[in-house]
Amino acid sequence: MQSVDLLITHASELLTLKGSRKPRIRGQMRNLGIMKNGSIAIQDGRIVDVGQNLRYKAETVIDASGKLVMPGFVDPHTHVVFAGSREFELGFKLAGVPYMEILRRGGGIFYTVEKTRKASPAHLLLQSKKRLDMMLRYGTTSCEAKTGYGLDVINEMKLLKVQQKLAETHPMDLVSTFLGAHAIPKQMKANEYVRMILEEMLPKTKGLARFCDVFCEKGVFTVPQTRKILQEAKQYGLVPKIHADEIVDTGGALLAAEVGAISADHLLRSSEAGLRAMAQKHIVGVLLPGTPFCLMMERSAPARKIIDYGVPVALATDLNPNCWTENMQMIIQLSCLKMQMTPAEAITAATFNAACAIGIQHNVGSLETGKQADVLILDCPNHQFLPYHFGVNLVETVIKKGHVL
Ligand code: NIG
Ligand code: FE
Repeated sequence: MQSVDLLITHASELLTLKGSRKPRIRGQMRNLGIMKNGSIAIQDGRIVDVGQNLRYKAETVIDASGKLVMPGFVDPHTHVVFAGSREFELGFKLAGVPYMEILRRGGGIFYTVEKTRKASPAHLLLQSKKRLDMMLRYGTTSCEAKTGYGLDVINEMKLLKVQQKLAETHPMDLVSTFLGAHAIPKQMKANEYVRMILEEMLPKTKGLARFCDVFCEKGVFTVPQTRKILQEAKQYGLVPKIHADEIVDTGGALLAAEVGAISADHLLRSSEAGLRAMAQKHIVGVLLPGTPFCLMMERSAPARKIIDYGVPVALATDLNPNCWTENMQMIIQLSCLKMQMTPAEAITAATFNAACAIGIQHNVGSLETGKQADVLILDCPNHQFLPYHFGVNLVETVIKKGHVL
């Protein structure tokens, strides 16, 4: 009998999410590839077999009877590297002050920029490491991390280097995004800052970032500024992403299609033309239901409409000082209970499609032979429990690259 490092057996449901390398759309998002009484064999950090009644000699055997086994969550949109906190902003929100007004008054992102500029790389590293540890405990095994609280050359580079260090030293798989265009720094004109991004920041991102993102929003970066930054970013090998149409429809979704972005994120207000253009170009729509929840907004992104248009949908936490959660289970709960996604759609969006949103689906996001062994065992009998038994951590065991954490 062939021997393996780890064998997980008898899962009441094993979600393979087996399939192609393209992000899933519409009905495909409901196909989790559910195997009853499923087993999975792991050797040297990779999946070597998935099936029923697998026969292997294993160093470690985990009996997953009565439990759900599924791929680790992928969180494709975080601002995990920041200093300070903004718990006091709840007072403003309760008094009805909108998010963009807090920003205009010099709070919000600017408050975090001040704290982050003052923080040493060692401090940022320690704080971010704690957040990544928590993410792992809640089942996130891969994530994206954005800069954007530096807003000058030295501090944006400091954040990129902290992200690099995290990627090198933390068990989490982490891909880096340069978001120098997160806000226009105080005391600077928009065109001056755009020039600084183009001429002084983008050339320094080499080897440190894979994606370039822009907060394209009324009162922040305009569509022409966003276009300019993302076109130039492509010259440096960075793949575009956009914070698009969160508060106002500025045409962010359309621009994402025009520049060939890998994803457009938020999408609360996107036009029908924008959504159609995204669908046509297979651009992933990353929905972040934690954000309108924390902003006490009435509406969330119209997930049903976005799925109907044929946009492949992913989910992410948006982890940042305004919306501070490390927990993708909470995001799945919000997506079902506030955006009418089905449990199966939400799970696809939080695993395989999320991996597509950051270009790592060849390696993670589904349980298939040859893929990295990032596996979760949840203390629940089926996948419908994820949005049902809410507000607790259902993840019992996290297996990262074949290691039981
Ligand atoms: O995606 N919208 C812009 N950026 C973040 C929030 C950042 C912050 O408030 O600190 C977002 O929601
Ligand atoms: Fe964000």
